[in-house]
Amino acid sequence: MKKKVDKLLREAVKTIEEASSSRELDEIRVRYLGKKGAITDLLKSLGTLPAGERPAAGQTVNLARRNVEEALVKKKGEISAAEGDRRLQEQRTDISLPGVSFEQGSRHPVNLVMEEILGIFRGMGFSVRTGPEIESDYYNFEALNIPRNHPARDMQDTFYIDDDTVLRTHTSPVQIRTMETEKPPLRIISPGKVYRVDYDVTHSPMFHQVEGFLVDERVTFGDLKGVLIEFVHQFFGQGTPVRFRPSFFPFTEPSAEVDIGCVICGGNGCRVCSDTGWLEILGSGMIHPEVFRYVGYDRERFSGFAFGMGVERVTMLRYEIDDIRLFFENDLRFLRQF
Ligand code: DAH
Repeated sequence: MKKKVDKLLREAVKTIEEASSSRELDEIRVRYLGKKGAITDLLKSLGTLPAGERPAAGQTVNLARRNVEEALVKKKGEISAAEGDRRLQEQRTDISLPGVSFEQGSRHPVNLVMEEILGIFRGMGFSVRTGPEIESDYYNFEALNIPRNHPARDMQDTFYIDDDTVLRTHTSPVQIRTMETEKPPLRIISPGKVYRVDYDVTHSPMFHQVEGFLVDERVTFGDLKGVLIEFVHQFFGQGTPVRFRPSFFPFTEPSAEVDIGCVICGGNGCRVCSDTGWLEILGSGMIHPEVFRYVGYDRERFSGFAFGMGVERVTMLRYEIDDIRLFFENDLRFLRQF
């Protein structure tokens, strides 16, 4: 009996020593100590021994069982430590690796200038309103007193969606939409995209405008001049020369275009100002009484002025950019400079 037990014990301890995973160890435990395990069988067989041999045999088998249990516990500790180490190795994060760096973007120059323009007019008490880019013929033309035969309505200039719907060619329709729903006094500034069939170094089929208008009792051309001169001085610098040149727009009477002294040559004459020393930056005028009639305002009581400015144009002057297409090519070498 003793020999048999010793052999079994040696064999068990050896397999335990050689085990390399917790699962394997579990199988070994079942093989020796499970319900039908080899050592369990021995314990059960004690009853068949002559009574005199039983105590000694029992002691031997129990000792063997304890040895196997201890060997299992010891090996289990080793294996789980090793498995833990392996897991740590596999899941290790190498914190010395450089991180993924995110490039910092920058504001688009047109947006920067748009924000700056809005800021200047907000400072003079104007509030922002916007309107749709897909606009009806009524708001884009008719209510602005632009007659059916006006060249602006030509298919060559306007993107028509159908007979009655266009991509707005200017931000002026926001004047109509705002006056239809709000009563004077009004001081409104309206930024947005506009569309025209046009493409060369100074024209792009989509560009941005800022529309402004002010309506109240007793508004005069002097108010128009005061507001626009203040804008020019804040945007282009205090000493910038400004002049108002008579012009024509169907929705204003009288109308004026505003020129500033050429920012490139300082008024001496150059290629950019076509040797005139002046650069046109916006259109303006006193709102036409016919426009007030369309929106149902009392044209005897109220008067107002309006203006519209191309944002790309003033951005080009501000940063001395000579091709409008640079704004829309998304070339990072260009955009990173702002
Ligand atoms: N809507 C005109 C254009 O796109 C610009 C303009 C001129 C707007 C005079 C105005 C204005 O409000 O009074 O060319």
